[in-house]
Amino acid sequence: MTKRVRTAVFPVAGLGTRFLPATKALPKEMLTVVDRPLIQYAVDEAREAGIEHFVFVTGRSKGVIEDHFDRQFELETTLELRGKTRALEELRKDLPSAGRTSFTRQQEPLGLGHAVWCARDIVGDNPFALLLPDMLFKGKPGVLKQMMDAYEESAGNVIAIEEVPHAEVSSYGVVGRGAGADNGFRVTQMVEKPRPEEAPSNLIISGRYILQPEIFALLADQPRGAGGEIQLTDAMQTLMNTQPFTGVKYVGQSFDCGSKIGFLTANVAYALDRPDIRDGFLAALERLSLDEVMAEPTKAAAE
Ligand code: UTP
Repeated sequence: MTKRVRTAVFPVAGLGTRFLPATKALPKEMLTVVDRPLIQYAVDEAREAGIEHFVFVTGRSKGVIEDHFDRQFELETTLELRGKTRALEELRKDLPSAGRTSFTRQQEPLGLGHAVWCARDIVGDNPFALLLPDMLFKGKPGVLKQMMDAYEESAGNVIAIEEVPHAEVSSYGVVGRGAGADNGFRVTQMVEKPRPEEAPSNLIISGRYILQPEIFALLADQPRGAGGEIQLTDAMQTLMNTQPFTGVKYVGQSFDCGSKIGFLTANVAYALDRPDIRDGFLAALERLSLDEVMAEPTKAAAE
């Protein structure tokens, strides 16, 4: 019988070098899309998929993430006194229940594979979901929920898959596609950052995983790969020799919020989707006379 996935791991110990100087003291995962930090979107997606235990692999200067998932009595009391019950309810709704979060530290940012391995004792001998919070997915149901449905059918490991233009595959982990429909097909191979002419497809691994605990032993022995980091894809390639991997080409839109363009685009998309913000935002964009801005880059932008 398929073992239920109750735990999700959120690696949040990366340095976020693509987003400096914003990420010098502020964790990338606390950057906000409209008014919610990226990490909150990832936790919401996991809860929707039935996750009960939230494991954060944090690092230096990431303490604010722990604070974000804690009660804030001074703030709550003030909101209560001012009768701001709606805001108060929203804050409380966002919190996982008491005892349902765990925090562990990756003392050195040695790569995503190493960050995942740091969660091994907390996860134990159980399947787990892995969500990279800087990848933001907009879709209903959320991507992890779509993957859970495939997991129930297939067991084993499940990875979220996205299609990119063929010329761009060399920036990603690329999979070979075997039998099955978009909502659950057999993954036949994985290649990290292939040259376009050598790539098995234009389908890339995209920030959400359901993994079996056997991955931890492989990560423990995993030598450093690309960029001198311990790569999760390398360990998954080995795991593929003994366990099936299912790909889910999810329905929805993705934003790589670790990049500035992806982050800015996400803010526009989410703001336009919010009934309380949409009209005001559109009016503000109009005042900015977008046509003019687009036609004539400012001096600073041109430099
Ligand atoms: P990224 O490679 O996108 O994050 O990792 P990064 O290294 O922080 O960013 P750049 O490339 O320097 O801008 C994806 C996820 O894995 C976590 C990151 O925090 C992010 O959520 N990560 C990455 C770790 O937790 N530890 C690491 O050693 C590397």
